[in-house]
Amino acid sequence: MAIEKTYVMLKPDCIKRRLIGAVISRIENKGYRIAEAKMMTLDKAKIGEHYAHIADRDFFPEVVEYMMSGPVLGMIVEGENAVSGMRILVGPTKVETAPAGTIRGDFAVSTTENLIHASDSAENARIEIKRFFYHD
Ligand code: PPS
Repeated sequence: MAIEKTYVMLKPDCIKRRLIGAVISRIENKGYRIAEAKMMTLDKAKIGEHYAHIADRDFFPEVVEYMMSGPVLGMIVEGENAVSGMRILVGPTKVETAPAGTIRGDFAVSTTENLIHASDSAENARIEIKRFFYHD
């Protein structure tokens, strides 16, 4: 077991639906610590950088529009195995396969508007923390 830091982002639908408290409660109840948090309005360039790996997918324009539709809450979440643990708490991307008990399974209404992002690997966690918290 190792103490890890991961990047978690509450997306615009989460903020608009006033689910910040409910989602953060689940993260804290699991034993993780919110080490840093900041509200941000992302521009197209930042979203393009974060989602560069899906730039050629047909749903990419929808993702950009959605991520620009309101502020997001970026967080550094810390705890034992926080990278893989947060992915389990979040649940799978496809809304119809997200089980009850996961954040997406319990709250998400569509695959695009899926409330929350969490880094998918320790390496991406480092890159994403730098991208959203420690850039110049
Ligand atoms: S891949 O190639 O689908 O495995 O890519 P992945 O790393 O899962 O990232 C996909 C991100 O796009 C968001 N998104 C969707 N994914 C799949 N299908 C649809 N229709 C779709 N719409 C949006 C998905 O939530 C991933 O973003 P994050 O923020 O990482 O959850």
